[in-house]
Amino acid sequence: MHQAGIVTPQQSHTYMAALDVKTDSRDELVALLRAWTQAAARMTRGDTAAALATPDDQPAPDSADMLGLGASGLTITFGFSPGLFKRSEGRDRFGLAARRPAALVDLPRFNGDQLVPEKTGGDLMTQACANDARVAFHAVHQLARMGTIANVTTIRWGQAGFLSGPKGQTARNLMGFKDGTNNPPTAQRKAMSQFVWADGADVVWMKGGTYTVVRRIRITLEHWDTMELGFQEQVFGRHKYSGAPIGKKNEFDPVDLDAVDKDGNTVIAENSHVRLSNHMTNSGMQILRRSYSYNDGTNFYIERWPPRGIRRPSMTRG
Ligand code: HEM
Repeated sequence: MHQAGIVTPQQSHTYMAALDVKTDSRDELVALLRAWTQAAARMTRGDTAAALATPDDQPAPDSADMLGLGASGLTITFGFSPGLFKRSEGRDRFGLAARRPAALVDLPRFNGDQLVPEKTGGDLMTQACANDARVAFHAVHQLARMGTIANVTTIRWGQAGFLSGPKGQTARNLMGFKDGTNNPPTAQRKAMSQFVWADGADVVWMKGGTYTVVRRIRITLEHWDTMELGFQEQVFGRHKYSGAPIGKKNEFDPVDLDAVDKDGNTVIAENSHVRLSNHMTNSGMQILRRSYSYNDGTNFYIERWPPRGIRRPSMTRG
């Protein structure tokens, strides 16, 4: 069985949060996970997390801000971090150390990383996706509230995201490019078994699950806006308006990394995003992307770009 919100067609909004587990009691953690499962089932049916009938002198059991909005396609997906399985100070916190799938490890440091501690890490992941921003937020709000009342979790970070595009078409990111074109096809079970669903070969409980990487990537739009169209297209290796690979006409034309122009230069630049991330460059491996745009009250256009003394980058071609 698979969790919802992974190969589910992408909804227009997400609210994702990471929580830290405060308790050392395995029973308390299990009890919260069970309560979350029931609350998630209610909410994905369009209901409140808890029944609303409560005596007037008790706190209202649910914020109820989503009343009237229905389920709005809500999916709720839960994830466990490597930290939950770790031994610390010689202690196996929840008795899970032997059950950690080998692939569930923290990411290594990447070139250019500027990780913000307040937006990094956590023990448990909750991802709510819905076609309404309020419904997505409400779901995580209630789960976080339940964890707090039970004295089992505290919220570590939360992140809202949005995405929109004409029905049936690939949505664009904030840089104006279609994003998601070359995802492995979610409707093809074979591709999903190969690239998304774990087979549970090392730990059985992982069968049918998957590994999620969450990265908040800052896009300096004020910088990007000064780039010539042709440069922007080389950065990705695709044409901006059609979404076609450079040198091709249609969005879903195959990416040909071997194509060269009349001077023998590669048509898709050597350091273009598509070349670096394509399966041909990565031993046939593919990932399913479910990216969302976000806006955190950005500082674009508050500062002059490029700041004095910084030269515009140039793109090298092979
Ligand atoms: C600001 C960050 C990023 C932006 C704006 C971005 C945008 C894009 C765009 C426009 C495409 C081409 C269209 C498509 O096939 O979807 C693409 C392809 C892709 N991206 Fe990203 N991307 C970002 C970061 C990443 C990261 C961090 C990864 C993985 C670690 C990644 C993995 C991929 C993959 C696997 C493809 C498909 C390449 C292919 O097979 O042709 N992207 N991305």
